[in-house]
Amino acid sequence: MTTSVEQLKHDNAQYLFHPMAHPAAMRKSRPDIIARGEGCWVWDVDGHKMIDGVAGLWSSNLGHSNRKVRDAIVAQLDELPFYNTFRGTTHPRAIELSARVVQTMQPDDVGAVLFGNGGSDAVEGALKLARQYWKLRGQSERTKFISLKQGYHGVHFGGMSVNGLANIRRAYEPLMPGCFHVDSPWLYHNAYTQDPEELGRVCAGLLEREIQFQGADTVAAFIAEPVQGSGGVIVPPPNFWPLVREVCNRNDVLLIADEVVTGFGRTGAWFGTRLWGVKADLWCLAKGISSGYVPLGATALGRKVADAFFADDGSLGTVSHGYTYSGHPVAAAAALATLDELERLDVVGNAARVGAHFQARMREFVQRYGIVGDVRGVGLMCALEMVADKANRKPVPRSSDLPLRLAREAYRRGAMVRVSGPNMILSPPLVITREEVDHLVDILHATFDALDRAP
Ligand SMILES: Cc1ncc(COP(=O)(O)O)c(C=O)c1O
Repeated sequence: MTTSVEQLKHDNAQYLFHPMAHPAAMRKSRPDIIARGEGCWVWDVDGHKMIDGVAGLWSSNLGHSNRKVRDAIVAQLDELPFYNTFRGTTHPRAIELSARVVQTMQPDDVGAVLFGNGGSDAVEGALKLARQYWKLRGQSERTKFISLKQGYHGVHFGGMSVNGLANIRRAYEPLMPGCFHVDSPWLYHNAYTQDPEELGRVCAGLLEREIQFQGADTVAAFIAEPVQGSGGVIVPPPNFWPLVREVCNRNDVLLIADEVVTGFGRTGAWFGTRLWGVKADLWCLAKGISSGYVPLGATALGRKVADAFFADDGSLGTVSHGYTYSGHPVAAAAALATLDELERLDVVGNAARVGAHFQARMREFVQRYGIVGDVRGVGLMCALEMVADKANRKPVPRSSDLPLRLAREAYRRGAMVRVSGPNMILSPPLVITREEVDHLVDILHATFDALDRAP
């Protein structure tokens, strides 16, 4: 028996706590209940059809009805629904996926993979393995982490401690000691310069100063997203990551790339680090790895880090971390099929080609509307920042209901978008066509035309 629409709406408001939301607010302003998906389209429980401008949540990169991924999941359920990968046992899909990730990331010099169930797990794994790596190397004082303001690294205590978004840290403080934040290379909002190259240099310099202020021999790693996603799609100047790599090398600090959003094609490159021509030491992967069909996360270890574990002949190298569902067979099967499909359909190439068109069209908004101060993005990720004062780059205040009203209007007109603070964030499936991009952008124009009251 299926639950009636009215009952679903009632029970949702009554019983379901939503992540990143106030439960009382969810009762007043009811979340949209998405009931069906096909390709780049979704339908809500009332049958309202929309183009999915957010790919579930940066995740459904292959769209919602990929037959090959679905068949792989069903076949795996028939073969072996679950077995663990803790010491002593394993199963074919986890093994195959680990080899496949290493092979896919061969240009990045990845040596091994540790699985989890999502992005927060991937970050937690990376932070813990980074500390353990230094213990293995006999430098156990290297425990601190440095990260970027506006960074988002998930919700576990480690990830939350390196997050650079103050509003989501508050309720859970005090967080992990030994975590420090430096300014991100954000061209639209920074106190230093409007020259991108200079900004890249300044921000890499701030990182180096912080490392030296802390004492380089106490710093385990610097963690950052190659393009900051949830913080407002902040695309760094092209020189920033290469300079960061140099800073990390000079100070012997590990570089952790949080590729939970950028991994597997979102930027039009296979990995965000490749966009910048940089190799990290550890990578956090999730979302696109299984195209959101089944929860999966992975921490990829660069060869240098992996080798330190393989070389240890004591007990220090034991990975005392991992989950019952690390490398879950159904998730691994979904990921293997996802990787096949990414290659077969040249999805990453599509993200680059259609992404260029998407970016060009999204730039129309900053010219046309007084309430849009900045448009930022690369590939198939983009943010429109809403401003109260365009001349002074003053974002709409947190109390403003404008971003939410825009999202409601877009929804009504047939486009699912996401708002976060003053930003409207778009991250459609990577299989989106040029025509579907035009459809999405046209709906957004109609939305802004209806609501933009600024001069
Ligand atoms: C960069 C980044 N890291 C980590 C996470 C956490 O992933 P999850 O929500 O799967 O735990 C996210 C989620 O959006 C993310 O964007």
